[in-house]
Amino acid sequence: MNQSGSQRAGVTALGAYAPERILTNQDLEAMMDTSDEWITTRTGIKRRHIAAEDEFTSDLAFRAVEDLLARHGDDALAGVDMVIVATNTPDALFPSTAAMVQDRFRLRAGGFDMLAACPGWIYSLGMAKALVESGQCRRVLAIGAEALTKITNWNDRSTAVLFGDGAGAVVVEAVDGPYGLLSVVLGADGSGAHHLHKRSVAHSLPNGDPLSETLYMNGREVFKFAVRVMNTATIEAVEKAGLHIDDISLFVPHQANLRIIEAARERLGLPRERVVVTVDEYGNNSTASIPLALHRALDDGRIEPGDNLLLVSFGAGLTWAASVLTWGGGA
Ligand code: ACO
Repeated sequence: MNQSGSQRAGVTALGAYAPERILTNQDLEAMMDTSDEWITTRTGIKRRHIAAEDEFTSDLAFRAVEDLLARHGDDALAGVDMVIVATNTPDALFPSTAAMVQDRFRLRAGGFDMLAACPGWIYSLGMAKALVESGQCRRVLAIGAEALTKITNWNDRSTAVLFGDGAGAVVVEAVDGPYGLLSVVLGADGSGAHHLHKRSVAHSLPNGDPLSETLYMNGREVFKFAVRVMNTATIEAVEKAGLHIDDISLFVPHQANLRIIEAARERLGLPRERVVVTVDEYGNNSTASIPLALHRALDDGRIEPGDNLLLVSFGAGLTWAASVLTWGGGA
């Protein structure tokens, strides 16, 4: 129960998927003017998983949900009445990728896509929490799925080396006991829109800056923003949960760059063993990066029921999001 006496929402099942094809830094050396040494020291990335030519975000989302079913059994989706797919690379502007998931798993559910850049999956957790705790929904399937390499500019070495493809899915529902999503912090600052963008139908931003056909990023500006906001959003989420940073068992940050993760870790005073790092294996999977990191941490036995986890992300918009959840109740 939460303070108002209603049941709190929590994560009760999790699945994830990364495509089979792997692109290493050595592969990239053969494709462009870069080096394993540059990529490793500047980003911590060693390889990334790449969707096949005919594999798209919906396919990756399906595979993550299939993994969730394999881990938790066929009943894991029973009663799911809303599907949210957080993605920057939907198969189509419409129909939503969520509707494709609804149909694939024959769910009696509503569905919509969440467009909030990399923090989109934490945004979807926030929506799921609100839908469940208000009584609007019983169970919400919250997915983060990306085929980012489909929008990468392979002629721009400063961004092409950073991204990979993947998906993660969780079920959010009411949980008993001292578990669940304690806090969610969501933020946006559109004055930084020109630092990170990809065109849809308009040709320019409201400030007149032309929109890029492929993913454009001002890496240095995003880097500075990321380090600052990872710190402030984390502190806000921990305070909102009524906890102290020392109560956090595991820090599960957006996997964009090892240097950003390290800078945030140092500012927050967290020891390395309390931080999950998967950027070496997956690169930046945007909305899928945190569920993939949670999946790895679970498989590595790093999460126990009762652990307080801190999730934090940042991205285009500019946007940010953070959440504290106490693990337990099935996943
Ligand atoms: N290989 C070799 N050299 C390169 C490469 C490359 N792949 N890319 C850039 N360089 C060169 C540049 O041309 C530049 O050369 P110069 O000094 O001769 O001009 C030099 O390396 C330094 O470039 P910087 O851009 O200053 O490198 P920096 O240390 O800032 O690292 C990076 C760039 C990795 C992009 C960094 O800025 C970063 O990580 N930014 C944040 C990105 C991020 O986290 N985005 C996440 C939000 S987006 C999302 O999640 C969807």
